[in-house]
Amino acid sequence: MNRTGHPDHPDIDETMWPQIDQIIKSHRNLSGAIIAVLRECQDIVGYLPVELLDYIGQGMNLPRSEVYGVASFYALFSMTPKGRHTIKLCLGTACYVKGIKEVMSRVVNQYHVKEGQTTDDRRFSLQGVRCLGACGLAPVMVVDQDTHGDVSSDKVIEIIERYQ
Ligand code: FES
Repeated sequence: MNRTGHPDHPDIDETMWPQIDQIIKSHRNLSGAIIAVLRECQDIVGYLPVELLDYIGQGMNLPRSEVYGVASFYALFSMTPKGRHTIKLCLGTACYVKGIKEVMSRVVNQYHVKEGQTTDDRRFSLQGVRCLGACGLAPVMVVDQDTHGDVSSDKVIEIIERYQ
């Protein structure tokens, strides 16, 4: 807890707390408003750290279990920080058959990151996703907005290294 009565968190600075307080205040007595509150707070902070979920729960007078339940149910919410770049590896059938699993292992080992997580330096978030609709290019990786086809475990690191 800092001197303004807000929990200390490295990703939430002093300009963010008043905005968060305002969001909570304006939704406090509205039923079902928790989704809107989480969405708006995530827009400010970039994700929903545990400390923020607790703070929102207290402010909205909702049990912890309910706030966590909503935050983890909807794919739109993230409780881990996002990296500067997002790597999506397609785990659909065509990509699977063509060896995406080896590609995934290579990325996991090289950058010490698990699927669904972000590297410690916040450079990448790694996601395994369903068919990206580009099966003819299998195995497929999308980094930010760029689609890379025919990605092998040999080539993948070279491609990713272009994204700093
Ligand atoms: S299965 Fe990977 S793009 Fe369709």
